[in-house]
Amino acid sequence: MHGKVFLTGGSGLLGRQVRLALGRAGWDVVAPTHAALDLTEGAQVRECLASAAPDVIVNCAAQRHPDRCESADPQVVALNVALPALLGTLGIPLLHISTDYVFDGTTPPYEVDAPRCPINAYGRQKAEAETALDGLPHALTLRVPILFGPTDDWRASAVTVLAANLVAARGAAVPMDDLAIRYPTFTPDVARQIVRLLPALRDGLAGIVHYSGEEPLTKFLMALTMAPMVGCEATQCLPERTPPTVPRPHDCRLSVRRLQGLGLYERPTPFATALLRTL
Ligand SMILES: NC(=O)c1ccc[n+]([C@@H]2O[C@H](COP(=O)([O-])OP(=O)(O)OC[C@H]3O[C@@H](n4cnc5c(N)ncnc54)[C@H](OP(=O)(O)O)[C@@H]3O)[C@@H](O)[C@H]2O)c1
Repeated sequence: MHGKVFLTGGSGLLGRQVRLALGRAGWDVVAPTHAALDLTEGAQVRECLASAAPDVIVNCAAQRHPDRCESADPQVVALNVALPALLGTLGIPLLHISTDYVFDGTTPPYEVDAPRCPINAYGRQKAEAETALDGLPHALTLRVPILFGPTDDWRASAVTVLAANLVAARGAAVPMDDLAIRYPTFTPDVARQIVRLLPALRDGLAGIVHYSGEEPLTKFLMALTMAPMVGCEATQCLPERTPPTVPRPHDCRLSVRRLQGLGLYERPTPFATALLRTL
């Protein structure tokens, strides 16, 4: 047994895979449900952590839908900004999940020390959380891009929702963004990467690391790969080149050089293989 991990967001798209991977690796996982612990209630969070006394915290909880972050709802800010800041104050080794949206997407690839320059509220909230952890000797921020992976609801991921939309359209054309470049990343790969990082975190690894899928794809191109896997025609995918209402970065490719240099990097599963395991 490695020790005890306190996992937030353990029911989420990433959190579920992290929980499985940690369990397989022999960690004791404490992952309170949302009903058992509201993470926007700082006092409750402190109390729960004091009683769990974990060796490590992994923070996968967030509101990660950019459109739902724009209104700066206090509950969203509490989850995306105040929670990671609070977790950082406890002195317990903390692995916090962040996003490529802390960048504006104009000058890829981004190294871990590239200046943050978010262009929407979600990116600004995640950047503020990262800033609160900057310089803490026990905090490690792992940035990842768009995620997909095993789920009982394809709509839970911005990748597999495309397959759900194709199926629901019953042969009709579905517009798919063909502007923004994304690097879809498989949640079981991220979960394994987190498991590899925890011993290093306990040994003092801090700062920021990046992990990312390797294939640059627009959502239109992702959908072309998915269509035959879900019994749809590729002709249903309609390339769309209209910018979204809430601004999204164009291309935030994350450089994985630091992780490679640490000898902790594991190559990601190819996109098509990962999709076959997901759909
Ligand atoms: N998904 C992506 O494409 C993507 C891309 C880049 C970075 N990320 C980052 O990756 C991390 C994980 O994201 P994800 O996709 O796994 O998110 P997710 O599927 O939306 O999961 C969010 C988790 O947070 C929990 N949660 C939300 N509000 C809570 C509250 N007030 N109290 C307790 N629990 C609460 C949810 O539980 P309930 O469902 O029970 O409310 C759920 O377990 C986040 O930091 C996100 O910013 C995600």
